[in-house]
Amino acid sequence: MNKHYKVGIIGATGMVGQRFVTLLQDHPWFTITALAASARSAGKTYEEALGGRWVMKTPLPACVKDMPVYDAQADLEKIASTVDFVFCAVDMKKDDIKALEEAYAKAECPVVSNNSANRFTPDVPMLIPELNAHHCAIIPAQKKRLGTKRGFIAVKSNCSLQSYVPALYPLDQAFGVEDVLVCTYQAISGAGKTFERWPEMIDNVIPYIGGEEEKSEKEPLKIWGAIENGAIVPASKPHFTAQCLRVPVSDGHMAAVFVRFRTKPTKEQILKIWQEFKGRPQELCLPHAPKQFLHYFEEDNMPQTRLQRDLEGGMAVSIGRLRKDTQYDYKFVCLSHNTLRGAAGGAVLGAELLCAEGYIEPKQ
Ligand SMILES: NC(=O)c1ccc[n+]([C@@H]2O[C@H](COP(=O)([O-])OP(=O)(O)OC[C@H]3O[C@@H](n4cnc5c(N)ncnc54)[C@H](OP(=O)(O)O)[C@@H]3O)[C@@H](O)[C@H]2O)c1
Repeated sequence: MNKHYKVGIIGATGMVGQRFVTLLQDHPWFTITALAASARSAGKTYEEALGGRWVMKTPLPACVKDMPVYDAQADLEKIASTVDFVFCAVDMKKDDIKALEEAYAKAECPVVSNNSANRFTPDVPMLIPELNAHHCAIIPAQKKRLGTKRGFIAVKSNCSLQSYVPALYPLDQAFGVEDVLVCTYQAISGAGKTFERWPEMIDNVIPYIGGEEEKSEKEPLKIWGAIENGAIVPASKPHFTAQCLRVPVSDGHMAAVFVRFRTKPTKEQILKIWQEFKGRPQELCLPHAPKQFLHYFEEDNMPQTRLQRDLEGGMAVSIGRLRKDTQYDYKFVCLSHNTLRGAAGGAVLGAELLCAEGYIEPKQ
């Protein structure tokens, strides 16, 4: 694609915001031209605003170090008028995030969001680009509601489900998935934390992540949903039940999955579907699309968090241990990188899809 886009990052100083910076520094289509955070950071350079909070493994890129940080709310008009769209990942109250994202959209600035606030707004697509790229077709209805020409909001789903939903979605198309029981083992970066900042997590497991089980059960049904009369209507099946645990891992969410099918497949049929599955990002050769989305590992001790979380730039899903179950039909384990595929990387891929499909155009 020959188009080039000026991009803003709202929440640039946070854990996900920093991931956006590292992913976008050499992006072939997108150039970071605005950084924003809270009033606490506004008026400082990016490096000053971070104040030692840079937690990425690569150094702070020179191209953003001295950029000014704007106030995401007070400088909204200025930011919206100079960029082609923004990524948003902020730690604010849900209603405030809703208002902020809608204000950017109404200022004719598309928003690609990591936040959960708009995930259940019926005309906001919640994208896992390989699975439900067709939900982008809701955007004209959303623009009509907002009264905008180019502004709209698109979101990505919660990080917990980005390992097991990609594995289940193509199996549902082939065999019908009835019931799913899932236990997730989630990394501390999912809470915006490192071990330095959360020493209580060393040698520990916490059996509660606020709101996570509800999201893990409910959000997949919107991914499976259908567009009807200007809204994405969530599906009623598959039925999900989830337990989500915080484990002492820096990055990478793992899930243990049990699944019951309508039509009973063989193990070979399941493996063939995973091997052959491709989505719109692979068809369009988007810059952040993994070549192979679903990787199956035959070894009994795979996938492992440290060995596979960075597969294909952290954008692939790793699966293993597929075997028959005594109560469900099959069980397996899967893994995805929560701040790459599950957060900033997933949002960048979503933005690439929206640009390639013409939903976001450069202003000039
Ligand atoms: N971490 C993950 O793996 C993950 C995965 C999926 C989704 N998310 C979602 O992404 C969002 C950000 O998460 P995070 O882990 O990056 O959080 P974080 O590290 O705590 O960063 C929060 C960011 O929000 C900014 N902010 C706070 N109050 C603000 C305000 N009033 N106006 C504008 N900006 C404000 C902060 O700016 P200051 O530095 O100026 O305070 C900072 O840039 C959350 O909604 C989270 O649920 C996170």
